[in-house]
Amino acid sequence: MAEKQITVTSPLMPNLDELNQYLQDIWQRKWITNNGHYHKELEKALCEYLDVPYVSLFTNGTLPLITALQALRITGEVITTPYSFVATTHALWWNGIKPVFVDIDPTTGNLDPDQIEAAITPRTTAIMPVHVYGKPCDTERIQEIADKYGLKVIYDAAHAFGVKVNGTSILNAGDMSTLSFHATKVYNTIEGGALVMHDEQTKKRIDYLKNFGFAGETEVVAPGINSKMDEMRAAYGLLNLKQVDAAIEARHQVAIKYREALRDVEGITFFDDMPGVKHNYSYFPIFVDAEKYGMTRDELYFKMKEQNVLGRRYFYPLISTFSTYRGLDSAKPSNLPNAHKMADEVICLPMHHALSEEDVQRILELIVK
Ligand SMILES: Cc1ncc(COP(=O)(O)O)c(C=O)c1O
Repeated sequence: MAEKQITVTSPLMPNLDELNQYLQDIWQRKWITNNGHYHKELEKALCEYLDVPYVSLFTNGTLPLITALQALRITGEVITTPYSFVATTHALWWNGIKPVFVDIDPTTGNLDPDQIEAAITPRTTAIMPVHVYGKPCDTERIQEIADKYGLKVIYDAAHAFGVKVNGTSILNAGDMSTLSFHATKVYNTIEGGALVMHDEQTKKRIDYLKNFGFAGETEVVAPGINSKMDEMRAAYGLLNLKQVDAAIEARHQVAIKYREALRDVEGITFFDDMPGVKHNYSYFPIFVDAEKYGMTRDELYFKMKEQNVLGRRYFYPLISTFSTYRGLDSAKPSNLPNAHKMADEVICLPMHHALSEEDVQRILELIVK
């Protein structure tokens, strides 16, 4: 019989008795959504935990992207990366904006700042980079370019919960940053997300936009959407916040073991920690050089799958190859060689807080020959 399944991730879930106490309180208050008690508490707690000035909660991590673009009145063309989850580019489509794909830096997986300027046209209004796998983008370089050309910067920080550079939250970079609290993320509210912004006025406007555009009882100021987080998920999120540090440390220990065992395996590479960065170990991608390793990425991926070890080819295929976007000039493979190479070589190994020593050894035995 096949050994037990090892999944690529496992959700961090609060203690059920503690959650039950919060639920009883919600049942008594009878205020179950629309900026309720736990919603306000979670926004406050996240500002503190993440060390950011303002947070607005959302029902998922896609709607904050769509809403940030709407709030900043971004139009025309936006420079972005093909090496991400498809929601990043979809957010542009939902706003009627043309995505312009720029290649990634092969050493980080993030949008390559050296290639951004060549893609700017008179119609460019913003840059939308992603901190892929929670690895910080070169935010200084990107801001310099944005300032030079008068562009806005919206970071898709779906993977970057709690990540800091030299003691400062990465979420403070750019004009706004978005987070996803999906079940698969380091920190989750089952489904959920947030927008991080710098000032109270912007927070107010975002709060209108996620509530149909209502500014008060009788006034609607924009065609907003309904993206409000309910009280039950906010309560779940408050409890998960108490255990997220321990979960990140458990992930860190897994990363240490993976790196130790894989460092000398010919044809397998991975990212090391970056100096000055507090990482969240949200993913552990490895890259398979078929010639040196003697097996292709897909051969290894399916070999693991046969043994009930589920990796994930994340991000494969590239966003720029999907039918919705492949007709764009910037989507041509010749424009995106680094992104194609990474997408063809990547496997994200199982990575979560509950992986046992035994699990890690079983995974490694399949890779280390
Ligand atoms: C980079 C990136 N952006 C956006 C999203 C969308 O977040 P959600 O699934 O919470 O809508 C995800 C989630 O999977 C993601 O990985």
